[in-house]
Amino acid sequence: MRASPPPFSSGQVFITSIWTALRTEAEDAARTEPGLAPFLREALLKHPDFSTALAQNLGRRLGILENQEAMIRDVCLEALAADPSLAEAAARDMNASHERDPACRSWLQPFLYFKGVAALETQRVGHWLWQRGRTTLAFHLQSLASQLFQVDIHPATILGTGIFLDHATGVVIGETSTVGDDVSILHAVTLGGTGRERGDRHPKIGRGVLISAGAKILGNVTVGEEARIAAGSVVLTDVPPHVTVAGVPARPIRGPTSPHPAEAMEQSFLPLSSVSEHKV
Ligand SMILES: CC(C)(COP(=O)(O)OP(=O)(O)OC[C@H]1O[C@@H](n2cnc3c(N)ncnc32)[C@H](O)[C@@H]1OP(=O)(O)O)[C@@H](O)C(=O)NCCC(=O)NCCS
Repeated sequence: MRASPPPFSSGQVFITSIWTALRTEAEDAARTEPGLAPFLREALLKHPDFSTALAQNLGRRLGILENQEAMIRDVCLEALAADPSLAEAAARDMNASHERDPACRSWLQPFLYFKGVAALETQRVGHWLWQRGRTTLAFHLQSLASQLFQVDIHPATILGTGIFLDHATGVVIGETSTVGDDVSILHAVTLGGTGRERGDRHPKIGRGVLISAGAKILGNVTVGEEARIAAGSVVLTDVPPHVTVAGVPARPIRGPTSPHPAEAMEQSFLPLSSVSEHKV
């Protein structure tokens, strides 16, 4: 049973509360697993704040392929310093994993290990670069994330916050897609084009949508807020809000779902203010 959420907290308070919890967990883990202490110090404990540690971790994870740890860390630091909303988005993504993933028992897991979180934060830095015309570096980050995390999100894609990529294997999100706040996406999901369209050709996913494993949503279709897409479905037409669709091609199988459809899978969409007190 989760504790009731604390009152609304601002972005910086939210980030600080997660950072404090991360440090506490890392200190505990370094004591109980001394073999991990050097890693935990390097990845987390030696850093002054959440953003610096996040940049270090993205550098560590993405830099491994081409020995580019310092370069990638520095570009992440540059983006995080220039745009404070990136750190808040990362904190909200971590919170989404923490709240909605029944297998998640700590803040360390999403921060250090969950490749869905790493892939999302890589895309957010890539999108920041993309908006500034630094497309080669943005594509470089996309390529590294695709190779390392099996999550391929185009840097132009517009992502909301509080997104949960469960398992985060085989996820493809095309260039002109948009993904709203508080969306949950399971593994092997494609938000792609049909191959027949040019230009604005990818899906627009509303707030709070649950996209189950293996679903393919194709074309410039709109999925209304808090709709559910069943596992293995192929969605080719718009989905109204609060409806569940299934099958190939997907058809409605349910009327209005619960206010928060992902709760049916033991996930929930909590607002920014709702970080459980006992977990932070
Ligand atoms: C979409 C979903 C949540 C619907 O659950 P539900 O509301 O309990 O629906 P039901 O299981 O009662 O099924 C309702 C109808 O839709 C059909 N249906 C359900 N899921 C379907 C699917 N993925 N594809 C095709 N038909 C499906 C059922 O056969 C049933 O049809 P019927 O009325 O003719 O008997 C669930 O089927 C689903 O896909 N969950 C995602 C699971 C997942 O991704 N797991 C991965 C974990 S790693």
